[in-house]
Amino acid sequence: MTVNELIQKLEYYLKNSNNVNYLADIKILIAFFMKTSLAKLYAIQNDKINFKINDYWQQLTAYRNGKPIQYITNYQNFYGYDFYVDYNVLIPRYETEELVDNINILIDEISLNNGNKSLTLIDIGTGSGAIAISLGLENPDLTIYASDISSEALKVAKRNIKQLNCKNVTLLEGDILEPFIKNNVKADILVCNPPYIPKDQSISHRVKNYEPHVALFGDVDGLYFYREIFQNWQKIVKKDGILCFEHGYDQKKALEKLVKEYFPQQEYYFKKDINKKWRMLFINIL
Ligand SMILES: C[S@@+](CC[C@H](N)C(=O)[O-])C[C@H]1O[C@@H](n2cnc3c(N)ncnc32)[C@H](O)[C@@H]1O
Repeated sequence: MTVNELIQKLEYYLKNSNNVNYLADIKILIAFFMKTSLAKLYAIQNDKINFKINDYWQQLTAYRNGKPIQYITNYQNFYGYDFYVDYNVLIPRYETEELVDNINILIDEISLNNGNKSLTLIDIGTGSGAIAISLGLENPDLTIYASDISSEALKVAKRNIKQLNCKNVTLLEGDILEPFIKNNVKADILVCNPPYIPKDQSISHRVKNYEPHVALFGDVDGLYFYREIFQNWQKIVKKDGILCFEHGYDQKKALEKLVKEYFPQQEYYFKKDINKKWRMLFINIL
């Protein structure tokens, strides 16, 4: 059977699937089994398939039962870089690329205003290392410390550092601010995409059943990590630093209340993502 014949067979078989992405995912999975990329699949459409159809079915069934495709292929592209991912880490999201984009702009601005002084950045809850490593690769002069409470997540981040040949990210294990305090790290920029889903919020079966809960839930109202950092930032960020966060699309109001409480004198702003949802918070420490 050729690649194209398999695609047609699957299309016919799955045409009543409720999952709108199924065709794209079928192809991603075939590309993965053929050890090529989705972009190159068209070029090999007349090649004979070189994998066991049973293995493919097994993974396709797992996928159709909710297993995210990224946990099958062990890969997610983030900010133009291919990251290894598995069950131990959150699959990096497109929204988070926008946070990285904004931080890249901030880094350029700060460097310009400060005569290119070398900057230190902290990434709390690094997971796969997506934020820290892509910022590290884009800004080779930046010194980056990235932490996680999960040693299994840190193994994934370490693998990505090696795989992507990133030279300026140091990994630390521990709870929120603690590893930075312990290692006497003081940053110019703090970045955090914390677990921010309220404990009892209902979320998609695909996310809830497969992604690590330690990466998802942020206490009763989802704001636990913001509170902790707002309360203690002075211990790990310099006096004229910047705090950058991703947050849930419906958390702006609650977060703004917290910001006013903890930072009455500071400048802050929220930003929307490409889907016009409030997603990012920046606090300038003056
Ligand atoms: C929403 S995920 C973000 C992962 C990654 N930064 C990204 O943007 O794709 C949150 C991360 O915080 C980590 N985490 C959870 N509790 C933590 C804690 N108390 N201290 C440090 N990291 C924690 C989780 O293991 C997870 O990797």
